Amino acid sequence: MGEALTGLKRSCMCCDVNETMIDKEVTVMGWVQRRRDLGQLIFIALRDKTGLVQIAIDGNVAEKELFEKAESVRSEFVLAVRGQVAPRTEGNINPNMKTGTIEIIATEIRILSESETTPFQIEDNVTVKDDLRFKYRYLDLRRPRQLENLVLRHRVVQVMRNFLDQESFLEIETPILGISTPEGARDYLVPSRVHPGSFYGLPQSPQQYKQLLMISGMDRYYQIAKCFRDEDLRADRQPEFTQVDMELSFVDVEDILDINERMMQKVFKDILNVEIPLPLKRMTYKEAMERFGSDKPDIRFGMELVNISEVVSGTDFVVFKTALEAGGSVRAINAKGCGAFPRKKIDSLVEFVKTYRAKGLAWISINEDGSLKTQIAKFFTEEKLQEIVAKMDGKPGDLILICADEDKVVFDSLGALRLELSKMLELTKADNFSFLWVTEFPMLEWDEEENRFVAVHHPFTAPMDEDLSLLETDPGKVRAKAYDIVLNGYELGGGSIRIHRRDVQQKMFGLLGFTMEEAQERFGYFLDAFKYGAPPHGGLAFGLDRIIMLMCGASSIRDVIAFPKVKDASCPMTDAPTVVDEKQLDELAICINKEILEAAEKAE
Ligand code: AMO
Ligand code: AMP
Repeated sequence: MGEALTGLKRSCMCCDVNETMIDKEVTVMGWVQRRRDLGQLIFIALRDKTGLVQIAIDGNVAEKELFEKAESVRSEFVLAVRGQVAPRTEGNINPNMKTGTIEIIATEIRILSESETTPFQIEDNVTVKDDLRFKYRYLDLRRPRQLENLVLRHRVVQVMRNFLDQESFLEIETPILGISTPEGARDYLVPSRVHPGSFYGLPQSPQQYKQLLMISGMDRYYQIAKCFRDEDLRADRQPEFTQVDMELSFVDVEDILDINERMMQKVFKDILNVEIPLPLKRMTYKEAMERFGSDKPDIRFGMELVNISEVVSGTDFVVFKTALEAGGSVRAINAKGCGAFPRKKIDSLVEFVKTYRAKGLAWISINEDGSLKTQIAKFFTEEKLQEIVAKMDGKPGDLILICADEDKVVFDSLGALRLELSKMLELTKADNFSFLWVTEFPMLEWDEEENRFVAVHHPFTAPMDEDLSLLETDPGKVRAKAYDIVLNGYELGGGSIRIHRRDVQQKMFGLLGFTMEEAQERFGYFLDAFKYGAPPHGGLAFGLDRIIMLMCGASSIRDVIAFPKVKDASCPMTDAPTVVDEKQLDELAICINKEILEAAEKAE
């Protein structure tokens, strides 16, 4: 039970109360952070979304009823408090609090709502198990840091909206109930009651719609778009997430990179007061892979990959020889200052790369006197080992880690090892923002399982003009007009110039293994649109959640989403997804296959 608000009006937020208001009457409303009872004197820290203000009730002065009410107040009760602003006495000033020099001497308190003891304390510095946090996310969001994340998110979106508005973009919504768009993940499907047996696909991105908007002549479109992908969760991946999605007509790669880097510069300046120098660094996909073993390299530190294939070619070490003969490579990184790693630690690095399909890891540690210690000594002459060390710029105290395999395995393994070591050695600082464009992605990638090419970005991406002829002869070598924007090792966004010619689009579907009929069946409406005058166009989509995560130094995008899903894609608060009534299923003509269900439950 709570008292009514009748007759009371909030005059300001808690943190708006300041010294210029001394002796004035204010009315604030919020939650009780804590109550301190000093016998005849009670202090209540009242919290709203702006922060805390102290309420004081002096038993010697206050009416008995008011004092007793203050005594009955507990944490997280919701109060309305009317009172006079007063300076705090000398010893009570709190320099860590925005309102630390004043307090409100209460003349009226209304308990608008009571609270049971919360399952965890509403404090930033209290560690709470994830399950509990997300079951009671509405309480978790009362904690200042979680609230700040959402405030920052709101502000970033405002800056982006203003920026894009000034750049003549139109904000246009596209359907959620649509047909599935191929972005490489599984679709979420929604059954149709009106068309039993048929399904809408939730958008993995508004890709096709935004291209159709260009064909409609909208010229520049953007949307803060909800996207849905049925894929495994990670710290930077949720099944439901938000893109800042855009598309522009009559542009080439340069125009898109230019607008987007200016937008990022503005966001970081306005929100964090961080200067991002432009133009952003750029690197081709090939260079990124060769130097960092990753298409989203963290360039805040070195430890770059070095190709030592030539140095070790002609040696007898079977492992290296086999890799080179099979068309692979031998590459290495120099972990500076790690030469004294104990054997056990090195062994753990060997185990680490095995999770990336590497068969092993050879190592050479350089002792302080320049002599070498290595497990591959017997396969190499001392001169050869020194030659490897020289190529790696090895100095006393360094540890050289070598991987031999097909390129993909070498890149994945050393790329991941480099990141693992950077964590171990604390080589990166969170407040250092290092942007990078990665350009010239390959168009297609061979999928061993499906035994066909798949699009690296998506099937609507245009090939680079120089590589057009390779489409016929060597499709795997074709580079695309595709680019990613990378920040501190995270893929923040990606996009491309699109194919705007129907014949090229059809050819692309052909390369991806669709027959003309299949392409027409699946994408007919899209291909048809290109018959009626499609402008050259291209675009990009940012992962908004990832931008916010990095800006507020959170370790997961869950912390910047109001109501996120947890590991198994469920919501611990609502328990979604849930089973539904038989009646609802009947209406949709859906029958649950018990056998498949039981098999799935067993597999869990
Ligand atoms: P892409 O698939 O690269 O491109 O997605 C764009 C950006 O969206 C973010 N993102 C995610 N964020 C959180 N959880 C996820 N599951 C998730 N998946 C992707 C990433 C990524 O860079 N239609 C194209 C864009 C275009 O070509 O214009 C697209 O969706 O930050
Ligand atoms: P082996 O002859 O397979 O026992 O390997 C000899 C050493 O080479 C071991 O210490 C392995 O860790 C290392 N090694 C094995 N495979 C590779 C590889 N693909 N690249 C680099 N080193 C490897």
